[in-house]
Amino acid sequence: MKRDFISIFDLSRKEMYDLFELGQKLKESQKKGVAHKILRDKTLAMVFEKPSLRTRVTFETGMTQLGGHAIYLAPADIKLGTRETVPDAAKSLSRWVDLVMARVFAHKTVTDLAENATIPVINGLSDLEHPCQVMCDLLTIIEHKKSLKKTMVAYIGDGNNVCNSLIAASALLGFTLTIATPKGYEPHKDYLVKAQKTRLTHDPKEAVKDADVVYTDVWASMGQEQEAEKRKKVFSPFQLNAELLNHANKNHVIMHCLPAHRGEEITDDVIDGSHSIVFDQAENRLHIQKAIMVWLSQQS
Ligand code: CP
Ligand code: NVA
Repeated sequence: MKRDFISIFDLSRKEMYDLFELGQKLKESQKKGVAHKILRDKTLAMVFEKPSLRTRVTFETGMTQLGGHAIYLAPADIKLGTRETVPDAAKSLSRWVDLVMARVFAHKTVTDLAENATIPVINGLSDLEHPCQVMCDLLTIIEHKKSLKKTMVAYIGDGNNVCNSLIAASALLGFTLTIATPKGYEPHKDYLVKAQKTRLTHDPKEAVKDADVVYTDVWASMGQEQEAEKRKKVFSPFQLNAELLNHANKNHVIMHCLPAHRGEEITDDVIDGSHSIVFDQAENRLHIQKAIMVWLSQQS
């Protein structure tokens, strides 16, 4: 039966570790220049309702490296749900291509695509989750910290899609996650109730205390641009800066899914500093997504 990757909760713990292993193998092959054209002649359709640098480039490059091909469908190209219904688009795409990746506003758009497609569908970010990002983040933490289970992760800022996917990962893999958000900007409550190892606070200092990984994301996500000015005021105590990071473990690493709004959620000295691993993280989007595409292709 075909599988989709819409939420971190779609995977078992074992499947997550299998994907990290496959991602690392594909990364090694890539670095050594060993051909790994596992998806020769396959086609990925990439549906975008929102802008992207990393997601577009890593999926497209990943498909090329795997011997396949990717088609970029810009927001104005297919106008999901306006020019035609989501189910009709899903059924049509299923007749031509082998995989679909979609970046959408409403999470229901990507679940409707998956339910109506006969081919695997990957969530390339929705308002509820960013599961490919978090698989990449976990691979990056494993590379830098060796054991994920013993790692203390602090997420500071908005309880958004990235935060929800991190909570799901903490629920499945058992690492300790402490989240600090302003009041009223907490993550989705359905995610919090499933994650016994996730703690929520409104005090960023408390969250970073003894943290091995300190993670942040933009204060206003795509689609929330009209709230950006208001959010800047509310979120200012949640900035990752040198003073806040004095409270973290001295070997902490800094993570950010990017794009960053420098001077807002993170200062230049922190994102460019010696603890920052944000570009290792960005690189790993490529490797883990190749693993996800190979794995999904083998399930169907
Ligand atoms: N982190 C991430 O998904 O980046 P893009 O929005 O550039 O794809
Ligand atoms: N939370 C951000 C992530 C961007 C990759 C957003 O949804 O815009």
